[in-house]
Amino acid sequence: MKLLNGESITLGTCYYPEHWKEELWEEDLTRMLENGIRTIRIAEFAWNKIEPREGEFDYSFFDRFLDLTDRMGMQVIFGTPTATPPAWLTTKYPEVLNARKDGVLYRHGARRHYNYNSPVYQELSRRIVEKAASHYAGRTSVIGWQIDNELNCELSEFYSESDTLAFREFLKKKYRTLEQLNEAWGTVFWNQTYTDWEEVYVPRTTCNDSTNPHEVLDYFRFISDSCCRFAKMQSDILRKYIKPGDFITTNGLFGNLDNHRMCEESLDFMTYDSYPNFAYCLDGYQKEDRIRDRKWSRNLAETRAISPVFGIMEQQSGANGWNTRMEAPTPEPGQLTLWTMQSIAHGADYVSYFRWRTATMGTEIYWHGILDYSGRDNRRLAEVHSVAEKLKKIQRAAGARYEARVGILKDYDNIFDAQLDVWHERVEKASQKALFEACQLTHTPFDYCYLDHVADAEELAGYQVLFYPHATIMTEQKKTILEEYVRNGGTLVVGCRSGYKDARGQCVMDKLPGMLKEVTGMDIPEYTMISPAEGGKVTVDWDGTVMEAAVFSDLLAPEEGAETVGVYTSSYYAGTPALIRHPYGKGQAYYFGGAFTEKTAEVFLEKLGVIDPYRNIIQVPESCEIAVREKGGVRYLFVLNYGNTPAAITLKQPVNDLFADEASAAGVRTLEKYEARVYEIL
Ligand code: GAL
Repeated sequence: MKLLNGESITLGTCYYPEHWKEELWEEDLTRMLENGIRTIRIAEFAWNKIEPREGEFDYSFFDRFLDLTDRMGMQVIFGTPTATPPAWLTTKYPEVLNARKDGVLYRHGARRHYNYNSPVYQELSRRIVEKAASHYAGRTSVIGWQIDNELNCELSEFYSESDTLAFREFLKKKYRTLEQLNEAWGTVFWNQTYTDWEEVYVPRTTCNDSTNPHEVLDYFRFISDSCCRFAKMQSDILRKYIKPGDFITTNGLFGNLDNHRMCEESLDFMTYDSYPNFAYCLDGYQKEDRIRDRKWSRNLAETRAISPVFGIMEQQSGANGWNTRMEAPTPEPGQLTLWTMQSIAHGADYVSYFRWRTATMGTEIYWHGILDYSGRDNRRLAEVHSVAEKLKKIQRAAGARYEARVGILKDYDNIFDAQLDVWHERVEKASQKALFEACQLTHTPFDYCYLDHVADAEELAGYQVLFYPHATIMTEQKKTILEEYVRNGGTLVVGCRSGYKDARGQCVMDKLPGMLKEVTGMDIPEYTMISPAEGGKVTVDWDGTVMEAAVFSDLLAPEEGAETVGVYTSSYYAGTPALIRHPYGKGQAYYFGGAFTEKTAEVFLEKLGVIDPYRNIIQVPESCEIAVREKGGVRYLFVLNYGNTPAAITLKQPVNDLFADEASAAGVRTLEKYEARVYEIL
């Protein structure tokens, strides 16, 4: 592949030839090349430039542009334009429009206003992709394709008539008979029983908006399935036309979508759109937040869970905003570099800035690119140039894999369930935030692992500790992998509310934690949400260490072979077990009765011996993130100072300082505010 080939780490930008006078094109491309950018993404919203009227195709616009890119030795990622159906299309075929839950259609004027299941839209999309791919894929400068743009962004729920029809087919395939559907959805409750398939709809507006939860779980699975099929339809066409070595990708990570499945079926790798300056967002900014732009490391870890080495299709390069949203400030000097290095530290070998020039018309006139409206040279362009110079010095790290001994398990059924079930959502949100922040602030790299896309326990063997915070829905397949992982020597940590639902989302009539009772060696005779009167938290003592259990308490009872290692020390159940350890095979499982706080997560990392694994090589203050990528036995250590003041770091051994091009002895070094360094560990 011409990107992510394990040989180079490169920069790109998003360019919209249709937004500018053609006389500007050559000058723009020349300036990109002068500043270290050779790759651009184009065309993802430009349907009309290829099919201006139904069935009338005119390739001349992008042909003229590609003549230039071919001649100038640029590399082009061509976008399929299906995120923005033309006005002629939605006017003639309003059935392609997405609808609100109450049935009102989303009209032309913004983007992503179509639904995946409209047969007309599928047909017209198929045709435009076929036409674009057959005409442009052979061009020398085209090296890859982006499918649509940010699938499931803007809206990830679809309520059009086509969706209802397709939902019925999805359900018929899954359940075959209405009796089975009624059983799975528990429709006997509140007299929801269906007697004809015509009575089944995608969720609709109801009293209290409390649609049947088993139906909603299937609905989210259906949305994901619809999106995956739409992507696969495009990918199958693109595969017929792309040159050997060219790739297919798409950008962004959005809800109600099994991104792993989409990538496995349709893409060569995933790309992410990273806008860390949302951390300084008008509405969301909190002075006391210690994590801020480091939250984007969580999203990068999510991307890495899909593609170990990935790309960034859109990387922050200016201030954020629409005419309707005043969002976030311009990156300060150094932040553009810092955020680029953050992406690379997590596994990105391609980073493309959004966008080259700031739009002078439309909704996004305030979503700034590298250049402002005038296009003159500016500070941000100079910083891009200096990033390109820095990247020359770390090319040998291309293709290197991120190292982590801690894994956080997830699966799509539980992600979907946590969206429709607020009991689940509260514990899940609290623990995911706490685990991420504890890992981030203690310099403990971790990976997300999606259990529904893990083939067997062998794949998890590299992780010393796996957290699976609140796997409410449990299945035989997941249970088998977890048991084997522990039996082979792993340490599994689960939190409250685990294992009490089946794949339909119905509660099991069993001792809890249901299918996890063997591996955890315990029982949950009682449970409760923690009363607001107690501040939503209770205290726990783990062998003399005080920590907290948040949101919820499972009251635990060890079975034979398991031991109580922590007890609640507040509330009416003080003195009863809060943490149970169960040796199982060569490993052990811990059941923790609450949701995690950052402090609690840190205690787990410490006690389980996985905290700050590089402390013998380097010590850094809290304001710095550490990441290590490894290739062929060589390890590259990224140190990122997110603080707006200098940070003193201590090298415990000599290293190669790659940006400075010199060996660096052990000792104290100062990182300037927002500075990033890359060391080769000797
Ligand atoms: C991204 C999107 C871009 C642009 C940018 C700024 O989510 O892919 O097309 O809209 O946001 O809003």
